[in-house]
Amino acid sequence: MPSRRFILPVGKKISMMNPDLKVVADSDPVIGLEAKYFTNRDIYRRIVDEVFYKNWLLACHSSQLRKPGDFLTLEIYDQDIILTHTREGALKAFYNVCQHRGHKLAEGSGNKKLLVCPYHAWSYDLQGKLKAAPHANKVPGFDSSKICLTEIRLENFLGFLFINLDPDCQSMDETYPGIREEMLKLCPDVEQRQHAYQHTADEGCNWFVAVENYNECYHCAHCHPAFARGIIDPGSYSITPYADIQVLHHTSEPSHSDETWYDVSGADYGSFFLWPASSIQFYPGGVVNSFTWRPLAVDDVRVFRTFYSNNGEVDETLQKVIDNDRETTFQEDLNIVKEVQRGLNSRGYKPGPLVLNPEGGINNELPIHKLHEWLKAAID
Ligand code: FES
Ligand SMILES: [Fe+2]
Repeated sequence: MPSRRFILPVGKKISMMNPDLKVVADSDPVIGLEAKYFTNRDIYRRIVDEVFYKNWLLACHSSQLRKPGDFLTLEIYDQDIILTHTREGALKAFYNVCQHRGHKLAEGSGNKKLLVCPYHAWSYDLQGKLKAAPHANKVPGFDSSKICLTEIRLENFLGFLFINLDPDCQSMDETYPGIREEMLKLCPDVEQRQHAYQHTADEGCNWFVAVENYNECYHCAHCHPAFARGIIDPGSYSITPYADIQVLHHTSEPSHSDETWYDVSGADYGSFFLWPASSIQFYPGGVVNSFTWRPLAVDDVRVFRTFYSNNGEVDETLQKVIDNDRETTFQEDLNIVKEVQRGLNSRGYKPGPLVLNPEGGINNELPIHKLHEWLKAAID
C-alpha cells in the first residue's frame, strides 16, 4: 500500500501551520487501521503485554494518598496493584498479591498500619515487608526478612501518580521530555490541585476505539456542539503530535461564543495525551481534569474521568462543568464508541481513508495516524 510520510524536524512539535513541516505524499490517502487491531483476541493480548505492561499509566492523584497508612487498589487488566503511603512518608506501588500462596492482599482503599492477607493472615507493612506469618516460626529456615511484596515503578508527576509495570522503563521526564514544563506553562499552580470528583464508565469498546475517539475533534462539530461552543474555539483548535515522543497536544483558545459553560477567560485550553492511555487536560482558566483508560476485555474498557480543585471540594462552577461534560461530551462519546465497536465486527467493514488535512486545524485525523504508528511499532 502506498504510504504518506511526514518529515518532521527532530525535537520539534509538529504544527500543521509550522512551515518546518514537510508532507511528502503520493496521490493516495492514508488508510485507517484494519479491524483486527480492535477485535482479535490474540492481538489484544499482545497489546496488553507490550503496551499496557510496558508504559506509564495514570494511577491516581497524590492527594488520594495524603496520610501515612493510606492505600488504594486498582487493576490493570489482570494485574492487581496497590499504592501505599508508608509510615516513613514515601509513596509506593506493589503488585497486590500475597507472597505466600497468591491471594489478593487488599481491596478498595483506606488507611491501615498493616495489610493482612485474608487467606492465612500473613501481614505486611506499607513498605511491602512481611511483618508476621502465623506459625512460621516453627518452620526451619523461614526468614521473613527475605519476603516482601513485588514493587512497581511509581512517579509523582506534578501531583499525578503514574505507574509502570516495566521495571527497566525510563523515567516520566525521559519518556515525555518537556511535558512537565509545558503543563506548568499552561497551569503554573497545577501542583496545588487535589482530587475532587471521579466518575467511570465501561465503554463497551476496545480501548483503542476510545483512545482514537478522544484524540480527534473531526467529530466535534457534528457530535459535540455543547463542547464546541461551551469550552473550545473550533477556529483555533488543533491536535498536534510531537516529532519524537509519544504525546498528542490538544490546544485551543477558550470559547468565544456566548454559550460558555463558565467564565473561560484566562488560560487557554490544552490537553496532553500521554501514550498509551492517559490524558491530563486543562479546560480554559485552569480547570484541571483527566482521563485514563484501563482495558477490561477485547471489547471493553473502563474510562476514569476525574476533576481536580484547589481544596478537593466541588464548588458550583466545577459542578456545572462536571455535569455539562458528563451529560454532553462524555455521554455522546459513549454512544459513538459502542457503535464503532459493533461496526468493526461487521463483515462489511473496510477501513477508509483518514482525513489528513495539510492545513491542520480541528478537522484533521493526523493524530489518529500517529496512534496507528505507535500501536504498530509496539506489537508488529
Ligand atoms: S495466601 Fe496470603 S497468607 Fe496465605
Ligand atoms: Fe468525542
